[in-house]
Amino acid sequence: MRIGFIQNHPAYGDREENLRALERALRAAGAPDLWVLPELFAVGYLFGSRAEAARLAEPVPDGPTTQALIRLARGSGSALVAGLAERAPDGRIFNSAVGVDRGGVQAVYRKIHLFDREKEWFDPGDLGFPVVALGGARVGLMICFDWRFPEAARTLALGGAQVIAHPSNLVMPFCQSAMVTRAIENRVFTVTANRIGTERADDGSELTFTGRSRIVAPDGAVLADAPEAVTAVGVVEVNPAQADDKRATARNDVLADRRTEFYRLIAPPDKNH
Ligand code: ACM
Repeated sequence: MRIGFIQNHPAYGDREENLRALERALRAAGAPDLWVLPELFAVGYLFGSRAEAARLAEPVPDGPTTQALIRLARGSGSALVAGLAERAPDGRIFNSAVGVDRGGVQAVYRKIHLFDREKEWFDPGDLGFPVVALGGARVGLMICFDWRFPEAARTLALGGAQVIAHPSNLVMPFCQSAMVTRAIENRVFTVTANRIGTERADDGSELTFTGRSRIVAPDGAVLADAPEAVTAVGVVEVNPAQADDKRATARNDVLADRRTEFYRLIAPPDKNH
């Protein structure tokens, strides 16, 4: 199986141009079985207000970004995981990712751990962490800041994910290194697709995105690593079944050896938000 990331530099708010740029990048890169694209890849990130996030949000599956992704999947045979701003029928706005293939939308993930000002712009995800068949592997979805919560990747691994698709708009320096740990502690492949560039809001605040998209193997090997400040594409060949072998040594299995009776504080049954 071939998996890849697209590291892009979206023009803020210009969905049509960003979708055209994606199409150009995909055409030049061939057709792996699974592409992972950044968080909010078609509209940019620094919304400034909830009203602005709502303006750029769209329904799933009928909105233009999801429809474009499905068209690309049908044209190329590749499955794609990509981030978008989702407007739900009841008006809530989510920082979401969809997983699509020729058959249409196979997964919708609504970001569970919202980062910083995202708490003003979006509603917290309410659908849990999905694991679905995509492009020949069992693929789990999480978005960007979810990396900071090891429970996210662990939940996906326990759900059977062989590959974690991780659309991102990273602004802090630590995630790319941490994904090596997420991969080895769960023995899964991880594909972090990040973006580059700087965005400025009307209030003068700005964010610079850190690139360095990467693909990591279950043994922690970094299979592909993009530069920090230029757009890039990375594609590697992997055997997803490697992620089914959870042994760390002949006598250790990273999932079966867990001592959950000592982990009760991690997920107390009475913790409700
Ligand atoms: C992030 O979660 N976009 C930093």
